[in-house]
Amino acid sequence: MSGRWFTVKETVLVTGGAGYIGSHTAVALSERGYRIVIVDDLSNGSPVAVDVIRRLTDTDVAFHEADLTDTGALDRIFATEGISAVLHFAGLKAVGESVALPLRYYQVNLGSTMSLLEAMDRHDVRQLVFSSSATVYGDPETVPISETAPTGATNPYGRSKLIIEDILRDVAASDDRWQFCLLRYFNPVGAHASGDLGEDPAGIPNNLVPFVMQVAVGRRPEVQVFGTDYDTPDGTGVRDYIHVVDLADGHLAALEALEPGCEAFNLGTGTGASVLEVIDATSLVSGREVPYTVVERRPGDIAVSLADPTRANDRLGWRADRSLETMLHDSWNWQSKHPMGFEDYED
Ligand code: UD1
Repeated sequence: MSGRWFTVKETVLVTGGAGYIGSHTAVALSERGYRIVIVDDLSNGSPVAVDVIRRLTDTDVAFHEADLTDTGALDRIFATEGISAVLHFAGLKAVGESVALPLRYYQVNLGSTMSLLEAMDRHDVRQLVFSSSATVYGDPETVPISETAPTGATNPYGRSKLIIEDILRDVAASDDRWQFCLLRYFNPVGAHASGDLGEDPAGIPNNLVPFVMQVAVGRRPEVQVFGTDYDTPDGTGVRDYIHVVDLADGHLAALEALEPGCEAFNLGTGTGASVLEVIDATSLVSGREVPYTVVERRPGDIAVSLADPTRANDRLGWRADRSLETMLHDSWNWQSKHPMGFEDYED
């Protein structure tokens, strides 16, 4: 399938395209000449993000507000939009919430994926790139983590990702017309260079960088550092942060490399940063003080998570090259331009 963009401007369905990673990927795909159709139920995405995608790409991106379990809506979309491949971002993603509401997480994440696959089958669309997560490695035995490392979930969110990976493997094994990529994201951060598209978490951010940005912009008083007694150089957790635009480019590379079967790829940089390094670097790029206090470890957190991205580098011809400074600069640009995210958005 390589080189497809030279020939036909194909139409790609982006589920969850009004969300953080889906919206950035929609921009990257559109810039590459693909026609974009977004389906999103807006449970966590914003209709403003769709407008911003249209403006940034100067294209008429199609948008359907629908739940993926609505088979009638999906059938109409597949029957009318001429879709040839799917990028599947839609899903619930808050770890803590998944522990409290496991049924909801299995219902939504598995139910919507099953419904989507069945609709694809009915309409003879058999290419899909799936948003998986480095969380499928659980607490890794060694780092950097390669795709052959053992997998295991520590919470229902992670287990829903693992189960979907297994479902896709089974479906691919049943019929060699199916082509799947499982993209295991490490820690996506950053924003579009325009500062007009970025992460806009509902409520209190669970993840470090959105929280740090909200402190820097004055929405919250201080960051809580979850433990300084890890076995890491400064005692705080180390993660492989990856710029969301690099991640978006990884989806393009995966789409263009699809082939029969089901293959997993790590999308990360291979380089780590600690919590304190993220806080310090944010102070530098924002010119604002970022106060913090040290609190207990967060249950379920691991010391170090680092990707071995060799497989994606070699087989997809893709590499994440934006630095931590660029990631935090772009996150800050978005946060300072739109302190309340899409809520009070003005052009
Ligand atoms: C978390 C999820 C992971 C999910 C990923 C999505 C957990 C346990 N893991 O990963 O399943 O795929 O988000 O991006 O929730 N930290 C603080 N203070 C904060 C927030 C975080 O010190 O307010 C620390 C954490 O302890 C960790 C690092 O910052 O060391 C990164 O945390 P976070 O951004 O939440 O990502 P992960 O925990 O790696």
